[in-house]
Amino acid sequence: MPRILDVGCGPKKYPGSIGLDMNPSTAADVLCHLDHGGLPFRDNSFDQLRAEHIIEHVADIIATVEEFHRVTKPGGTIFIATPHYTDFSSFRDPTHRWHLNTYSFLYFYPGGMHGRDMWYTKVRMREVKLRLRLLNLWRALGFEFLVNHSRFFRQFWEHYLSFVIRGKLMEFTFEVIK
Ligand SMILES: C[S@@+](CC[C@H](N)C(=O)[O-])C[C@H]1O[C@@H](n2cnc3c(N)ncnc32)[C@H](O)[C@@H]1O
Repeated sequence: MPRILDVGCGPKKYPGSIGLDMNPSTAADVLCHLDHGGLPFRDNSFDQLRAEHIIEHVADIIATVEEFHRVTKPGGTIFIATPHYTDFSSFRDPTHRWHLNTYSFLYFYPGGMHGRDMWYTKVRMREVKLRLRLLNLWRALGFEFLVNHSRFFRQFWEHYLSFVIRGKLMEFTFEVIK
C-alpha cells in the first residue's frame, strides 16, 4: 500500500491517506501548522504527497515545497492543486497569500529558472503532468485542449490571452528528484 500524505486535508481527506491540517475541526490525523516549523515526519516517509488548495495559503512557498520534498521518497510524487491567478476564486478568499500561474514552480525544476540553478532552493522535482482547467465557455470552445496539449500555446496564453480567456484550476504532478 502506498503511503499518502494529504496536507491541508480539510473536512474530507484523500482515501487511504494520512490527513494533516492546522484546524482540529477537519479530518486531520495530524495537527500541524505549516508556517510554524516543518512537517512532523522523517525524510522519505511517503510515496505520494497531496496538497489541494493549500499552497496559496502558506507563508513561504519555497520552504513549504522543500518540506514536501523532504518527506516524499525519491521518485515519489507531489500533487499540487491551486487556482490560476486569473480565476475569480484566487482573489475571493482573503486568506490566499499567493496568486500563481503555470510557471510558478520553475525554481524547483532541473535547471531552475532561466536555466540557472543557483536561486533560492536546491530542491529539485520534475513536472510530470500539468492539467490546466479553464472556465466552461473556454473549455467548450477548445481552448482548454490547446493549453494542455501545446507548451507553445500555453506560454502564448499566459503572456497574451489569460486576462480574457481566464484560467481556473492548475493541477501539477511532480516527481521528486533526490
Ligand atoms: C481551502 S481548504 C482545502 C481543503 C481540502 N484540501 C480541499 O481541497 O477541499 C485549505 C485547508 O488548508 C488548511 N491550512 C491553511 N493554511 C494552513 C497551514 N499554514 N498549515 C496547515 N494547514 C493549513 C486549512 O485549515 C484548510 O483545511
